[in-house]
Amino acid sequence: MAAAITGGRAHRIESACIWILCAAPLLLLVLQGLTGGLTANPIEFVLRELGVWALRFLCITLAISPLAQGAGWSRPMRYRRRIGLWAFAYACLHLLTYVAVDQEFDWPSILKDIAKRPYITIGMAAFLLLVPLAVTSINRVRRKMRPRSWRRLHRAVYPIAAMGVVHYYLLVKADHRDPLFYAVVVALLLAARFMPKRRARPARAQG
Ligand code: HEM
Repeated sequence: MAAAITGGRAHRIESACIWILCAAPLLLLVLQGLTGGLTANPIEFVLRELGVWALRFLCITLAISPLAQGAGWSRPMRYRRRIGLWAFAYACLHLLTYVAVDQEFDWPSILKDIAKRPYITIGMAAFLLLVPLAVTSINRVRRKMRPRSWRRLHRAVYPIAAMGVVHYYLLVKADHRDPLFYAVVVALLLAARFMPKRRARPARAQG
């Protein structure tokens, strides 16, 4: 009984820590905004920070299954859905910054950008592909789907992360080291998917 109470409390603390870690980059941006720390070009800075965190959270989401299956470390599986939803939240804020702050809702200019600038086209496509994954991560929607269809749909997160990397690569003008770093990370995570699987202890997914 006492062990169950301690376990429940430990889980609540762990869950709160994950939440805080996922929200931290956003809270830091807000703090930097309030203290005038958003550099000389605040729009570009915020846009880029949100974009890169969307990509980082996508990579973290992709890393969780290989950790569980390869190393037998299944605990993070509980938080995979939540971290994936944070990736989507950062992508939404990234898009919102572009549409509302950078472009000031100038729809003809936005549409022209989507049609003419390949990195925007790819970013937009990646975002649109991410939407069904976020929607089907809601428990009520997920329960209505067959597990096999759900898993098949959610495999799209690999091409989406790859598109995020291409989007990044195309927009960087000179030094391509950062996007290439993420290209290697996504390639390794994709390779890990095909590695022999070890049976992991089951862990319930949590919100
Ligand atoms: C899954 C979706 C997306 C991901 C993962 C993503 C990721 C990124 C990354 C990593 C950067 C560069 C950050 C840096 O330089 O440090 C970036 C920049 C940018 N992204 Fe995205 N992005 C996504 C969707 C979009 C969408 C939908 C749009 C607009 C329609 C967009 C527009 C931009 C713009 C305008 C920049 C900055 C370009 C510049 O400063 O020259 N992105 N994005």
